[in-house]
Amino acid sequence: MEALPTDVTRPIGVFDSGIGGLTILKELRRALPHEHLIYIGDLAHSPYGSKAPETVKRFASQITRHLLSRKVKLIVVACNTASATAGETVRQLAAPVPVLEVVEQGAAEALRVLEELGEEEARIGILGTETTVTSGIYPDTIRMLADRRGIPVPAMQQQACPLFVPLAEEGLWEGELPDMVARHYLDDMKAFQPQVVILGCTHYPLLSRTIARALPAGTRLIESAPAVVKSVKLILEEAGMAATTGEGLTEYHASDSVDTFQRLAGRFLDTHLDLVHHIDLDACEDREE
Ligand code: DGL
Repeated sequence: MEALPTDVTRPIGVFDSGIGGLTILKELRRALPHEHLIYIGDLAHSPYGSKAPETVKRFASQITRHLLSRKVKLIVVACNTASATAGETVRQLAAPVPVLEVVEQGAAEALRVLEELGEEEARIGILGTETTVTSGIYPDTIRMLADRRGIPVPAMQQQACPLFVPLAEEGLWEGELPDMVARHYLDDMKAFQPQVVILGCTHYPLLSRTIARALPAGTRLIESAPAVVKSVKLILEEAGMAATTGEGLTEYHASDSVDTFQRLAGRFLDTHLDLVHHIDLDACEDREE
């Protein structure tokens, strides 16, 4: 088997369909101050969540090829829809470069919190895009992890919330309109009375206060970012690939208007992003396919 790349100065690649993955990038930046990070927001093809799995797979493959051409040492799929539809494709393309995706991290974190709560009748709610929910990836992963740990499989209920993505991108994170949309999607979920609800789309943490208001008081909302950060650290340390000196840089790349990305991402990160590069993902098409 090919050896893992060991150059500690190589960047980490992170990608999403738009700005949602910044919820992951922000935590990585905070926890790994010496690492160079490359973020790709595929606004040209966004939203992924209503597209066919094959289509998302093609976009994710283009992005992976680009990241590999930049010699990344690890790839974080910071998009649940891409994880659900293209996780395996990205892994195969990237090997031996390790790939972490948000679905398994989020599912594991939800089970960990449930165990901590020690409820007898455990119930997990799963919110995601249409494509993620239809794929069944979360219930499948939760069943697999529960079996592996020898714990009972919790009751599960899924809900697709397509309008949450444009609300998040537009900065409409709180207010009358998002509250109305959240109630529209989450009435049935509220009746299900889950102890934990997975925010199974990286855009949703931006709306977490709105989502919490539409669910029973005390429902624990699960984001994948903390678990992703922990796993990234572990993989890099175990492989001797963690950068331990110097200031880590962050590069932003957008596949559509750089201005739009700058506006949306800047609002989210609460800072002006000076350097956003345009990236032509079609140039990363696999000629052999
Ligand atoms: N942020 C993405 C996810 O985690 C999807 C948003 C979109 O539909 O593009 O699923």
